[in-house]
Amino acid sequence: MGADMKGIVFTEFMEMVEQNWGVDMVDDLIDSVAPESGGAYTSVASYDYEELVAYVAELSKRTQQQAPALVHAFGNFLAASFVKKFRSFFDEAGDCFSLLKKIDDHIHVEVRKLYPDAELPKFSYEQASDSSLILHYESSRQLADLAHGLIEGCARHYGEQLKIERSGSLVDGLSREDFVLSKLS
Ligand code: HEM
Repeated sequence: MGADMKGIVFTEFMEMVEQNWGVDMVDDLIDSVAPESGGAYTSVASYDYEELVAYVAELSKRTQQQAPALVHAFGNFLAASFVKKFRSFFDEAGDCFSLLKKIDDHIHVEVRKLYPDAELPKFSYEQASDSSLILHYESSRQLADLAHGLIEGCARHYGEQLKIERSGSLVDGLSREDFVLSKLS
């Protein structure tokens, strides 16, 4: 794993922007957002998240695409990046449900060992049958759309087709989302 793992969400977001809208858009976003954030959040744990949200809002303004759709698309992009950079997690798991079941007690645990201040969501799951998995997401950040895109990207990596139904809530700053996943193939 690279030394800059913690910032990977952020750097991959910029990579997606560059690939889709060009390097000028990256510069424009930084010019617009950086003066507002510029160091002001450095002592706050959610610094990266606040900054990511600010960049998504600015990109939304400039592209006329809804912020949730952009975060969802970013989840797809990020999944492909994880496959490239952390291939062994995907090879070890072997299929999408196995991978998703390992996020909380293996993958994100490894992430946290290296980066104790990483901002990670909590996942738990219930497996009703071989073809059905319910994944529960819980986080102080509102990134269920990112999780949705990541799940899709993981399924695509394994060549699996999943139906994804979701419902969520935000209570006292805690974001919860249930993803009901059904294998279609
Ligand atoms: C090899 C696979 C994976 C790796 C290496 C990985 C690693 C990471 C890292 C480094 C972060 C950011 C920590 C920070 O910036 O502080 C993160 C956040 C996150 N991860 Fe994973 N992850 C993986 C798989 C997944 C999958 C499959 C899902 C979705 C089901 C997922 C859901 C999330 C979400 C939603 C966040 C954003 C933080 C939040 O919502 O609170 N991850 N992950």
